[in-house]
Order: sequence, then structure tokens, then C-alpha cells
Amino acid sequence: MNPIDRPRRLRRDGIREMVSETDVDASDLIAPVFVDATTDERTPIETMPGHERVPVEQAVARVEEVLETGVEAVMLFGIPESKDERGSRAWAEDGVVQEATRRVAAETDAYVLTDVCLCEYTSHGHCGVLEDDARNEAEARLTVKNDETLDLLGKIAVSHAEAGADMVAPSGMMDGMVGTIRESLDAAEFSDVPIMSYAAKYESAFYGPFRDAADGAPAFGDRRHYQMDPANRREAIREVELDVAQGADVLMVKPALPYLDIVRDLREEFDHPIAAYNVSGEYAMLHAAAEKGWLDLEEVALESLLSMKRAGADLILTYFAEDVAYAL
Ligand code: PBG
Repeated sequence: MNPIDRPRRLRRDGIREMVSETDVDASDLIAPVFVDATTDERTPIETMPGHERVPVEQAVARVEEVLETGVEAVMLFGIPESKDERGSRAWAEDGVVQEATRRVAAETDAYVLTDVCLCEYTSHGHCGVLEDDARNEAEARLTVKNDETLDLLGKIAVSHAEAGADMVAPSGMMDGMVGTIRESLDAAEFSDVPIMSYAAKYESAFYGPFRDAADGAPAFGDRRHYQMDPANRREAIREVELDVAQGADVLMVKPALPYLDIVRDLREEFDHPIAAYNVSGEYAMLHAAAEKGWLDLEEVALESLLSMKRAGADLILTYFAEDVAYAL
């Protein structure tokens, strides 16, 4: 038998690249950067090889390293010098993210996104305000106060915009957060600052290494009463529709690899740009296997990012950003 169709004809060098359907480009990538107000030295993050927490004084230098690889955007996360019940350092004018943003915006050409959440700033590590009497797991499950938290998220977003953030990214999965932040930004004359909503964010065990990195693990309980149940697919559409109605500009799915079906669903349902967050656990597991000599790190990193693009992501937040951009 002599096959007429031979897909192998187009897999040869010379034509292979021309017919490739998907690309990863440095301009698609956003590099997370951790700024730490508790230290004056760069501190390696053990669970995320190659990443460090840097003091505010080093934020510009750190972002310049990112820019040198060809990546043009960073997402800033902060570790505050102190925490309290309401997370008040999250919206302080001299807070760690605000200080870092101000410097990076003034001294570099980076596009600066900021994470808008409370979990790194509250003493209990939850993404919102708790009922006064919630001091244990069972109570905390029920008592992150959604609407009271919204006011704080609005204040945080405005404080980031005032410092010079180009885009804000709320990650707390409070109902109504995008609408509140939009209103707050508009009222403060930041109607040009877009919102990237962590729109479909799942309650995932893949965030483990990040919680070490940003010191944001809940002191008790978990986040399953506000982040999405990994079992749910249709609910993601519903969540995202709400964010779209409230004015979200970019829609994020998080994590990425175990949720590529959701990335595809959003690609098909919405015309907005879709972002995928290739989270800390996805990074750590490839590193761990590569360290054992079981996988080729560069190859699997690129293949992972390609799968997100193929699923329909336009942008990717990834700890591999610098390495992959450099390799490209
Ligand atoms: C804060 C936040 C988290 C991540 C990004 N923003 C942690 C969480 O929800 O527990 C996780 C990122 C990662 O794992 O890389 N709400």
C-alpha cells in the first residue's frame, strides 16, 4: 500500500518551522518577582531553584535582569515587614510593592503588573478579612468576609496604580472583586489601568512552593471556600462571565498544566486575551525531575509553555520566563 497523505513530508527541516501552528515568544511571557521587606539581602527560594526574594533596594536590578533576557513584563509580589489581622500593609503608601513599583516604573521600561491580594499581608494568611471570632479551621472556612474584603482590595489596587503599576491582578477569588476594583480605579482617575483577573483560580496543591516563597500559607484552614473546586469545569465559565461583566480586561486560568481544558474553554467562549499561570508547583516538579537527571529541563519547560499556547493562552505567567526567553 502506498499512502497518498504523508504528513511526514512537512516535518522536515526547512518546512517544519513554516508550518508550525504555535509559538512561544518572549513577548508573551510575564516573570513573577518577589520583593521582600524583611531582608536586606537576596535570599534564594529553596523550593523554586533559580528564584530569590530581593530587598526593595534590589528590585530595579532584579527587573533589569529579567529585561535582559527579552521578557518585557513582570508581576510583583510583596513580603511585608509586618502582618496584621486586616493586612493593612497591603495598601500602605510606603508598602513593599508600592515602593518597588515606584522604583521599577521610574527606572526601567518594564511593564509592571501587581498581585492584588491580602494573603501575604494578613497574620492568619487568608485572602480576606475574617469574622472576629474565627480562630480555628472550621470557623475560617465559613468566615472570610467577602464584602468587607472588597473595600480593601479596591484600596490596594488604587495604591498600586498610584505607585505606577501598569496593570493590577486581583487573585483573591472574592465575589465582585473585579467590579469593585474597576470602580475604585475609575474614581481615582485610573480608568486606563487594566485588570487581569485571576478569573478561574482553583484551590490547588500546586501552589505549595509559592506559599513558601511569599510566606502566604494560611495559618489554619484552607482556601476551598473561596478558590474553585478542581472538579469543576462549567463553573469556570460562570466565574469568568461574572468577571467579564464587571470589566475584566484579561482573563487568567490558574494553575495552567492541569487545567488546559479550562484554557481551551475560555478561548472558545470569550474574545478577551487569556492568560495562563504556570504556577510554582509546575515549575518545582520539572526542576526536581531534572535535578535527578530524569528530564531535560529546557525541553520540558518549552514543551509545557507550548502546550498552554496551543490550548489557547495568549500570555503566560511563568517562573521559566527568563530561562525560556534566553534560550529562544
Ligand atoms: C495569592 C497568590 C497565590 C499564588 C499567586 N497569588 C497563592 C495562593 O492562592 O495560595 C500562587 C502562585 C504560584 O503557586 O505560583 N493569592
